[in-house]
Amino acid sequence: MTAPARAAAPAASGPWRVDLAHPADFAAFRNTARKLTAAGVDPRDVVWQVAQEDDAPRGLFGTGRSVDALPEPTPETAPRAPRAFLSLAEAVVCHNAPERFALLHRLLARFAAEPKLLDIASDPDVAKARTMAKNVARCSHKMKAFVRFRETTDADGTARFVAWFEPEHHTLDRTAPFFTRRFPEMRWSILTPDRSAHWDGETLTMGPGASRDVAPDGDINEDLWRTYFGAIFNPARLKVKAMQSEMPKRYWKNMPEAELIAPLIKSAASRAEAMVAAPALGPARSTRIARERRSEADAVAALGDHFETLADLKRALGHCTRCPLHGPATQAVPGEGALDAPIMFVGEQPGDQEDIAGKPFVGPAGQLFDRALADAGIDRNRTFITNAVKHFKFEPRGKRRIHQKPSISEIHACEAWLTAERRFVRPRLTVALGASAARSLLGRTVTIGKMRGKPLDWADGTPGFLTVHPSFLLRLPDESARRAEYDKFVADLSRVREISVATGL
Ligand code: URA
Repeated sequence: MTAPARAAAPAASGPWRVDLAHPADFAAFRNTARKLTAAGVDPRDVVWQVAQEDDAPRGLFGTGRSVDALPEPTPETAPRAPRAFLSLAEAVVCHNAPERFALLHRLLARFAAEPKLLDIASDPDVAKARTMAKNVARCSHKMKAFVRFRETTDADGTARFVAWFEPEHHTLDRTAPFFTRRFPEMRWSILTPDRSAHWDGETLTMGPGASRDVAPDGDINEDLWRTYFGAIFNPARLKVKAMQSEMPKRYWKNMPEAELIAPLIKSAASRAEAMVAAPALGPARSTRIARERRSEADAVAALGDHFETLADLKRALGHCTRCPLHGPATQAVPGEGALDAPIMFVGEQPGDQEDIAGKPFVGPAGQLFDRALADAGIDRNRTFITNAVKHFKFEPRGKRRIHQKPSISEIHACEAWLTAERRFVRPRLTVALGASAARSLLGRTVTIGKMRGKPLDWADGTPGFLTVHPSFLLRLPDESARRAEYDKFVADLSRVREISVATGL
């Protein structure tokens, strides 16, 4: 990945020419730019060329002058740059604009006279570099969200998951480490037109670009995604522009679910009319499990009340004695959020701070959840957040109250409250955070590892999604595992966001 810049044969005069091995060759760019700046070479006198960039002015200036002839920087001549420049330059190098290297070289050369240059947001070079870095960050985010692996088999018979992806910028090098954390145990390759990344479970190797035809075409999971996407698509809320900005068309051709988009958009108007004409509370799709459980109406009726508003429901919840947890807890904690929220998140139960505040997810797990929601681009205010169990279950230890997992019977006793909240909000997608929430919504115990991040239907037939509970991340003892799990959690939430945007939720 870090092959040194290869300078062309020396020539007596004319521009300096630098050939970089690949489009995001940051290490070679950095070494060469330091050398050029230390030698006082004017950035306008340098031609940067990248081996695979078609639009580079190859041969335009002949062989050019060789940077090999320049001395290595010494402690006295080495250019100084603020620390922030390093991360800015690492991002900008991945941009697809051919002038990125000259821009960075110019900035580097300017720091000698203008050490605070990066603080001048209105400076055209600074502004341009920052915009380019933003474009690259966005592109990297899209790669994390839209890469779709297809299962293939290596020569030794083991499974390898291969994805073909066409990023707008040269972001594979900087994004591949995310996938090593996200899929550490699987062998995978991501192929792009100018770079490829390969993971064997231990080592990440970067290689040359590939062509579309070496990537596999489809596997069985794709049907599942298509079915799911079609099931939760809401024609009445379709915003084609917003959807296309979130999931730009350039990525559609490599995403199995995207082939449904055009027909779904086409039929959106008639489907929306049909939705308006249908009764307000249409029957849920029945499933075997749903039939075995109490119906939604029975569950709410069992509360002995009919709630006109969510405020009525909250008031009634305040008097709940359906299980012994109400005794020691300070108060019942109802769900909170937008009444028309397309997405509902269901946690386990209030924690110590939630029990005191009377609000869900405000303590440490809530703060981590907030950060992950923001990193995934989900606005908490546009969601509804609640818990499977409404009272805090704990064991007193000295002055502390230690969280205890709710039992199945406690989850069951609280199910009717969750059902009642879901009747009010009628979310299009309900996301369970952890096993207790999944138990409540599914009516059976599940293994999170097997089901997270995949489309599923809850017991009442409504679309669901399962991921881990944020407290799981807080309990991990080591920092690197925490970081890896956090990335996975954000990737799950990004998937939720994608689904909600793409289906017009
Ligand atoms: N954990 C939960 O499941 N819910 C909360 O409200 C807080 C922590």
